[in-house]
Amino acid sequence: MVDSELLNKALTVLRNGGLVAIPTETVYGLAADAENKIAVEGIYRAKNRPSNHPLIVHLAGPEAISGWVESIPEDAKKLTEKFWPGPLTIILKRSARAKDFITGQQDTVALRCPSHPITHRLLTMFDEGKGKGLAAPSANSFGKISPSTAQHVIDDLGVKPAGKVDLVIDGGPCEVGIESTILDLSGKEPRILREGAISSEQIASVIGKPVAHGTAYDSPRVSGTLKSHYAPEHPLEIVSETDLPKKCQTLARQFKTFGLIAPEKIANRFKPISEATFSYDSVQDLSAHLYDWMHRLDKIGIDKIFVVPPELTPASAGVLDRLTRASAKKN
Ligand code: TXA
Ligand code: MG
Repeated sequence: MVDSELLNKALTVLRNGGLVAIPTETVYGLAADAENKIAVEGIYRAKNRPSNHPLIVHLAGPEAISGWVESIPEDAKKLTEKFWPGPLTIILKRSARAKDFITGQQDTVALRCPSHPITHRLLTMFDEGKGKGLAAPSANSFGKISPSTAQHVIDDLGVKPAGKVDLVIDGGPCEVGIESTILDLSGKEPRILREGAISSEQIASVIGKPVAHGTAYDSPRVSGTLKSHYAPEHPLEIVSETDLPKKCQTLARQFKTFGLIAPEKIANRFKPISEATFSYDSVQDLSAHLYDWMHRLDKIGIDKIFVVPPELTPASAGVLDRLTRASAKKN
């Protein structure tokens, strides 16, 4: 149940320019009043995030969009009607309300309406009928794995006075578990900048036209697209079921340990020789738990993390994208 006292406390913190960690269906966010420059600067400081990386403005619903943008294209109307509240972020040409300190000086703004009931209620209260929004990146230090539980936020950023956040709202583990799909609607053609639970196929079928995929992938403007951005501390390797036995033997010969994330049947076979085994029975199950498992495997301190991935389908594109990034070498 949503605790009204907690929500009121969160509102007070936000109105006073503080930072609140909020649960969303994707990952936990670090929220501040999107129109308060000092509060937003606090987000960048807490995360240690470069100030030219723009933030997503979280809104109570589609009615709030108009204040933040130049105009609302037909595609945006159709998509928000279908997928909001939910894990879809849209990028549109900004209005003067979206200031440089939110957009990283770009002429566009990213907007999202999360579906988590607690945060949806918080946003509705914060909106005050004026379309006010909360800027919220994922609530992790820059370069670390996004938090999918309140405990991840507490472990990483911590609560004041010792830590960096004024208040953490525990809304349970995130259901989707990976960050929202980001769709850029500010250019000539709709373009996915970040894969997520809402697939390009779903988007294309709603707007009745094809969707391009991010050439923006190498752009530092979308920090989630930096290659090794979602990587755990320990090397992660994507391995096929066929190659797994060989890989395990090689490690064993070097007296090295490994952890495993794999479909149930494979996980059961390798459990006796792995330091820690996590199994999934669907793409949704893997997506919901992936970051928690990475956090745990990092804590255990093994030499290698093997992941046997699901097949590539429209539904698995988001989680496969994060796995690929997690397996990219850190510089
Ligand atoms: O699921 C999510 O989207 C979560 C939850 C908390 O809502 N938020 C999240 O925020 O993942 P963040 O800041 O960690 O990732 C948002 C990405 C960033 O990489 C940022 O660079 C990009 O969105 N972004 C924001 N505004 C943009 C804009 N105007 N143009 C291009 N990219 C933008
Ligand atoms: Mg992030």
